[in-house]
Amino acid sequence: MQVVLLGPPGVGKGTQGRRLAGDRGWALISTGEMLRDAISRATPLGMEAKKQMDHGLLVPDDVMIGLVRERTLEADALGGFVLDGFPRTVPQADALEAFLQERGRKLSVVVALTAPDEELVRRLSARWECPVCRRVYNAMSAPSKDGRHCDDHPETLLHQRDDDTVQTVKRRLEVYQKQTSPLVDHYRKRGLLKEVTGTGTLDDVHGALVAAVGG
Ligand code: AP5
Ligand code: MG
Repeated sequence: MQVVLLGPPGVGKGTQGRRLAGDRGWALISTGEMLRDAISRATPLGMEAKKQMDHGLLVPDDVMIGLVRERTLEADALGGFVLDGFPRTVPQADALEAFLQERGRKLSVVVALTAPDEELVRRLSARWECPVCRRVYNAMSAPSKDGRHCDDHPETLLHQRDDDTVQTVKRRLEVYQKQTSPLVDHYRKRGLLKEVTGTGTLDDVHGALVAAVGG
């Protein structure tokens, strides 16, 4: 299956996408993680993307489309994938549809996760991430065992993302409303959209997501 997770910053796309993909043996394709990896390796793509990401703005469509087109051709993605953070604009959605069609494939379902803005801001201010495996924790709702290190990398200190400052989170929410939220209607019109409430426990959201994805 080819699944898209759509939703604002902090709604749980990464957390839920990782679990769903892990359970089903699908690839998790997170464009945010791909860009953060490129930044940590100081590649030309990373250096360029960092300028937009630090301000909560989107990286240009052509760059993102090229990245995802290549990534979805890798062996681990051929049996299915979960897209987290792509598409984020109508041109990205059109490109995705076109390149899947070229390969005789199509999207199976698009799940829009929802949560109130106050909850998103609260979550992002308490988010901590492992710089090695990118596993995400939350100081309030999902802490690591000792609250400072990654459970899977006990030597590694967790860190906060550069774009999780109050001002950048506000900008990311605005950018989501303006550039990405039109995709909800875009996919509803195509009969691909399922809406899932992103609040409740991690298990609650996972259960609702599994029911929406089916299969
Ligand atoms: P990206 O990394 O995709 O960031 P985002 O969309 O802002 O989403 P987040 O990763 O912040 O949130 P999430 O929904 O994954 O939530 P999470 O699971 O972590 O993109 C970053 C940047 O890269 C963009 O701003 C842009 O510049 C660029 N970019 C990426 N893709 C692009 C594209 N396609 N085009 C152009 N530019 C692109 O959860 C959040 C927190 O909440 C965690 O602490 C978690 O533990 C906690 N949590 C999760 N679920 C629950 C729950 N049910 N209850 C309580 N806490 C919970
Ligand atoms: Mg994420």
